[in-house]
Amino acid sequence: MCGIVGYVGDQPAEGVIIEGLRRMDYRGYDSAGIAVLVPGESSLELRKKAGKLANLDKILAEEPLPAATTGIGHTRWATHGGPTDANAHPHLGEERRVAVVHNGIIENFAELRAELESAGHHLHSETDTEIAAHLLELEVAGGVDLTAAMERVCSRLEGAFTFVAVDAADPERIVGARRNSPLVVGLGEGENFLGSDVAAFIEHTREALEIDQDKVVTITRSGVSVTNFDGTPSEGRRYHVDWDLSAAQKDGFDWFMRKEIFEQPRAVADALLGRRGLDGKLALDEMRLSDDELREIDKIIIIAAGTSFYAGMVAKYAIEHWCRIPVEVELSSEFRYRDPIVDNGTLVVAISQSGETADTLQAIRHARIQRSKVLAICNTNGSTIPRESDAVIYTHAGPEIGVASTKGYVTQLVACYLLALYLAQVKGTRFGDEITQVVAQLEGMPAAIEQVLGQADDIYALAREYTEAPTFLFLGRHAGYPVALEGALKLKELAYRHAEGFAAGELKHGPIALVEDGLPVLCIVPPQGRDQLHDKMLSGIQEVRARGARTIVLAEAGDERVTPFADVLFRLPKVPVLLQPLVAVVPLQLFACELATAMGHDVDQPRNLAKSVTVE
Ligand code: F6R
Repeated sequence: MCGIVGYVGDQPAEGVIIEGLRRMDYRGYDSAGIAVLVPGESSLELRKKAGKLANLDKILAEEPLPAATTGIGHTRWATHGGPTDANAHPHLGEERRVAVVHNGIIENFAELRAELESAGHHLHSETDTEIAAHLLELEVAGGVDLTAAMERVCSRLEGAFTFVAVDAADPERIVGARRNSPLVVGLGEGENFLGSDVAAFIEHTREALEIDQDKVVTITRSGVSVTNFDGTPSEGRRYHVDWDLSAAQKDGFDWFMRKEIFEQPRAVADALLGRRGLDGKLALDEMRLSDDELREIDKIIIIAAGTSFYAGMVAKYAIEHWCRIPVEVELSSEFRYRDPIVDNGTLVVAISQSGETADTLQAIRHARIQRSKVLAICNTNGSTIPRESDAVIYTHAGPEIGVASTKGYVTQLVACYLLALYLAQVKGTRFGDEITQVVAQLEGMPAAIEQVLGQADDIYALAREYTEAPTFLFLGRHAGYPVALEGALKLKELAYRHAEGFAAGELKHGPIALVEDGLPVLCIVPPQGRDQLHDKMLSGIQEVRARGARTIVLAEAGDERVTPFADVLFRLPKVPVLLQPLVAVVPLQLFACELATAMGHDVDQPRNLAKSVTVE
């Protein structure tokens, strides 16, 4: 949510910043802007525009910026104030000496704004950010450098923020700060970078510095220093980014999302890499919780949002089945507001692709205060949620740029299965050979997903038939139920059409009233091995078909009993019921992606959404 870039070095700053913003505009695309420091003039130049980055490109072509080697940029997901030119970042102080970009929400901005206005300041936007520019400028005008100014201003602010600021009078310095919002430093040779995530500078360096909460970071072309808000020295944690620029490019696909769907076999394989020790046992080296600590656990609460929440629902089925530990799954935005019962026997599992989702972050903080252990399942190295957790399982999906999660989701599923099997191993609730067998089945999943992707053209052709359909239903049972929810979410967010997922057994308790002639109902049929489950699902399909629905059925190869009830039938590879979400979700992702494409929507940047939701 909001992408931020800062650059100081020898290269033309405009190019570095605009390219960084381009790779981060999935974080927000309500406006974009850039400010550069004009060498030798103690002044700064600013261009900004509402809408996507292309609008800023146009302004820059009409009114080119002067050559500069220091600057900052921003791509916005609007919170305070609508998506207008005036509200676009960067924002300037009263004397246009300081420029600042911001991600987050300053909660005490109203009183600070009133204070500034009564002192005669003119604020030109409705944003909370602009007050930070004015406050910083007051500090530097009073004689301190921008680093000290940032420390002082941050100490006065409440809420969540990442700032990156420049001072026209100090053109070799960029200062950033963070509280509850992401900020990472890119370490170059004779140049340094700040970014909301490493995509901001991955083209230039893969060496990065992770910055903790409540820190100020100062970069110059030759150095980086970190301080606390009280000015005392601190430091970051250096790490190497294990993906490169090619992972952040489209490679001939029309959308990042489509590319990421097709990357899933590789992503699942990567998520499984290196998980077996020499003795054949599962070895999760980032686990950091001892076997004794894990044996003490008598309850698990999974917290997550959106697609990650649906991965958590599958995890509940797997953990309860393999480990016999009770599991609750809870939306992170609800968790801490209902006074949950958690203690040191509870393991809280936070699932987050970005590792920055504010609802999930606040929920884990609440859990840790209650003394429960927190394990993060996360895709983003260096992000806040894993850093604030006792243990982490990284999903190794590589950068996910399409706003709608795809490979992020399937690799979360893999991590959940691995966690469940690991707990079963530690607790002794499954024999070693059973665990080995499931791990081997998981290792067969990349090939199974590949098989589903082989039917992409049929799914695309079907999707294109539905550009006029106003409503879609998705039905599933057992592990297929969260897949139905995920399929409906993908369709809502990409095609902007009403789509709902239901547990097939719930249909008769109300939702069946929605069914009318021609309504497309996508049905995920469990494998035949679980007979009762399979039969009940077939009954659900018959019930909607009898009322005129058009049934689009996903069922495993060789399931002939389903054929008479399917208007359209897609075959899934034969896999165990608990692993079926890994293959069943793929046609639903392809369907939503193609339907949205046919409707002329921007698949990578759906309206009103942002990739990483860093506000509560
Ligand atoms: C939907 C989607 C969102 C995210 C949710 C949580 O396609 O991507 O629903 O799953 O915002 O994000 P993370 O996993 O980053 O915490």
